[in-house]
Amino acid sequence: MEDFSACALVLAGGKGTRMHSDMPKVLKTLLGEPMLHYVYKALEPSFADRIFTIVGFGAEHVTKAFPDYSERCILQKEQLGTGHALQTAWESIKGSDCEYCFVINGDTPLVNRKSVIDFLEAVREDRADLSFITITPEEPNQFGRVIRNKAGQVTAIVEAKDYDESVYGPASGEVNAGIYCLKVSAVDSLLFSLTNENRSGEYYITDLVDLAVERDLNVTAVNCGNSIDLMGINNPLELAKAESALRERIVAELLEQGVVIHNYENVVVGPRAEVAPGAEISGPCQIFGKSILQTGAIVEANVCMRDANISQNATIRSFSHLESCEVGPECSVGPYGRLRPGAVMERGAKVGNFVEVKKSRLGPEVKASHLTYLGDSEIGAGTNIGAGTITCNYDGKNKFKTVIGEGAFIGSNTALVAPVEIGADALIGAGSTITKKVKDGELAISRSKQVNIRRRNEKS
Ligand code: UD1
Ligand code: CA
Repeated sequence: MEDFSACALVLAGGKGTRMHSDMPKVLKTLLGEPMLHYVYKALEPSFADRIFTIVGFGAEHVTKAFPDYSERCILQKEQLGTGHALQTAWESIKGSDCEYCFVINGDTPLVNRKSVIDFLEAVREDRADLSFITITPEEPNQFGRVIRNKAGQVTAIVEAKDYDESVYGPASGEVNAGIYCLKVSAVDSLLFSLTNENRSGEYYITDLVDLAVERDLNVTAVNCGNSIDLMGINNPLELAKAESALRERIVAELLEQGVVIHNYENVVVGPRAEVAPGAEISGPCQIFGKSILQTGAIVEANVCMRDANISQNATIRSFSHLESCEVGPECSVGPYGRLRPGAVMERGAKVGNFVEVKKSRLGPEVKASHLTYLGDSEIGAGTNIGAGTITCNYDGKNKFKTVIGEGAFIGSNTALVAPVEIGADALIGAGSTITKKVKDGELAISRSKQVNIRRRNEKS
């Protein structure tokens, strides 16, 4: 498209009143990723770094969530409508020296790369001054109604609130998807004539259609049927439906690629997760963020993970919770295991039930099978951590490290008061509270001696 230059503008300034949230609507998530993530992904191939974003309500949350785009965020201090949002961005758009500006509502997360490319291609061919995408959903809901004249040409978009059948006749069912492509030089002369004389008292971007038609500009509407992909999301029900459609799509793709999925209706996999053919997943479960499941990895039911890397033939048993961690090949976690950020398990290591691991490296074949907390620690290969062992890593102000060598045996119910070092092949007696270094091969035991006292005279 050398002869055609376009930038993009994402409208993400609104509050999303119908979500009843203190966070901006565009940060509401589908499969663990904010709506805006999907919009940006769809735009990237066509616009690269020429993507502007209007932010307003909760702007700081939006820029923080998407640092790569924050440089081209434009603040709309008061949210006076989609037309006002475009006015606010106009200087930046003109400054980009692009011939066209593609505009998309930030609450349209199911839009895909292909719809964007196809639309741009259509605009490139007919060179309209103003083009937009329309859909014909089963329910027109609150979408802007598209008005065409007898010849079938678009004459206006009228918002649902402002639609008066006595003026416009019965609605056709065709509505505005909130995706536009504007010729910058043509719209320049219309944009600041928008008024807010309507039921909402807002400046509508959609009124540009009416204005453009009045001035005999070339306006086209591209109808894309009733695809759910182009539906805007305004309330929890629409969010749930979109999320469900997206989930089905991802799970179907994984099945096709050779991932074995049990109870697939209840398996939720985010768009950034990578699941290799030959991995096996049971629902219900959630695999979010940049999680990776390598071939032969098994994820049992009721597991929840985000940014977890699960290597070949590792098993994550039921009710485990994993976040920002690495599980090596042949490892086993759970049931009821918890791996917190920075937990790394090397080949064949085992973390059993009610074991929590944070910022710790478990060497190959380390076993911590029951009821344990390992925080800020390094544990050498083959070491066994007895039930109830706790690394006491926090004194209320600072965190301290526990280092355990290879082949050590930590008896049950041991408290390791960090900072502390336990040597290779050391043995710690059950119930010990260890505060001093234990050297290689030493036995350490620190518990009060058992005293048995006769309680009363009993016949011998
Ligand atoms: C809009 C369209 C409607 C269309 C529908 C498609 C207008 C007036 N109406 O209605 O014709 O059918 O989208 O989904 O445009 N925003 C700002 N600043 C503002 C107001 C809104 O950035 O001052 C952003 C919102 O964050 C949102 C987008 O613009 O992402 C659309 O706003 P919204 O209020 O959802 O418009 P709709 O009522 O859905
Ligand atoms: Ca909307």
